[in-house]
Amino acid sequence: MSSHSPSSELVILRELLAHDPGFVSGSKLADKLGVSRVAVWQHMEKLRAQGFAFHAVRARGYRLTRRPAGLNATFVEALLHGRAQDCQLVLLDEIDSTNDEASRQLGSGREVPFVVIARRQTRGRGRFGRTWHSDKVGNIYASFGFRPLLSPERMQTFTLWMGVNVCELVSTFSKSVPGLKWPNDLLFGGRKAGGMLTEARIDSDQIRDLVFGVGLNVNAASDSWPAEIGRRATTLAEEAQAPLDLNRFTAALIDRVLAAYDQFVAGTYRENFADLWHRFDLLRGKNVAVLQGACRFAGTAAGIDDEGSLLLRDDGGRLQRFRAGEVTLEKNAS
Ligand code: BTN
Repeated sequence: MSSHSPSSELVILRELLAHDPGFVSGSKLADKLGVSRVAVWQHMEKLRAQGFAFHAVRARGYRLTRRPAGLNATFVEALLHGRAQDCQLVLLDEIDSTNDEASRQLGSGREVPFVVIARRQTRGRGRFGRTWHSDKVGNIYASFGFRPLLSPERMQTFTLWMGVNVCELVSTFSKSVPGLKWPNDLLFGGRKAGGMLTEARIDSDQIRDLVFGVGLNVNAASDSWPAEIGRRATTLAEEAQAPLDLNRFTAALIDRVLAAYDQFVAGTYRENFADLWHRFDLLRGKNVAVLQGACRFAGTAAGIDDEGSLLLRDDGGRLQRFRAGEVTLEKNAS
């Protein structure tokens, strides 16, 4: 449990959002913070400098009239619920990779849970060390830091569980339903909108720390990407045919990831994991190939087993299991 106390700006913003679109009196805010009304006004000036605007009416108080369009840490924090309010948020303008930064912060003993979010990454990466293009603002590049008391074997289903949670969140937020390509790709049809990268450091039979990274193409126009990526990629805004509120979506993502993490650690996730996987599984029944180094295995995807391994039925009807590998969709015969 984190012990950090919320800033005065955060307390003010939470009050205003709780009463939105109504007014909150200056004296109520002053009482809440234990400061003078002049001090409240000074905190509101700080919020104004971040892109917020207020309507102030004598004898009624303040109400929120404008919020910053770009990512704003105070706004995201004010929108968090329950346990996610204990998650420290580190919002950076630019970093090499949020996964690398989260890993460095874990290494230097930062209290967990926390999330590192960057507006841009200069060395964003995906599986197999591939580049994750992250030079455009308006998307989400986020990495969560945890220290779970779990044995490494338990981790095989972690990214899959997180993936279905991210999918469900996206489907409620963007009103269009993505699918998961095992193990970590979030797609709409054949076009990728996001990916997840989990990295753990292990001490003998115990996890020392864990980074869960998620990249989502949200609002940055996909035509700004290199052509070969643009054809294979999409954004949540394109799918929803409207830009998403980046601050609200980011807060909802933090809420969801923290809740999903707790369910995973408690083991209660197993109650609805299979159903959720079935709902978002993009591969089931499709002809696919799994590449493992120079080896290639072809068959029909048949879901996952309890350990999260991909099941493939080969031409002879035998079921094969894959713990790792890269999946490509083949042209279906029919
Ligand atoms: C993949 O598709 O292989 C996974 C992509 C994961 C990208 C995210 S963006 C935030 C975090 N930081 C990184 O460098 N990678 C992950």
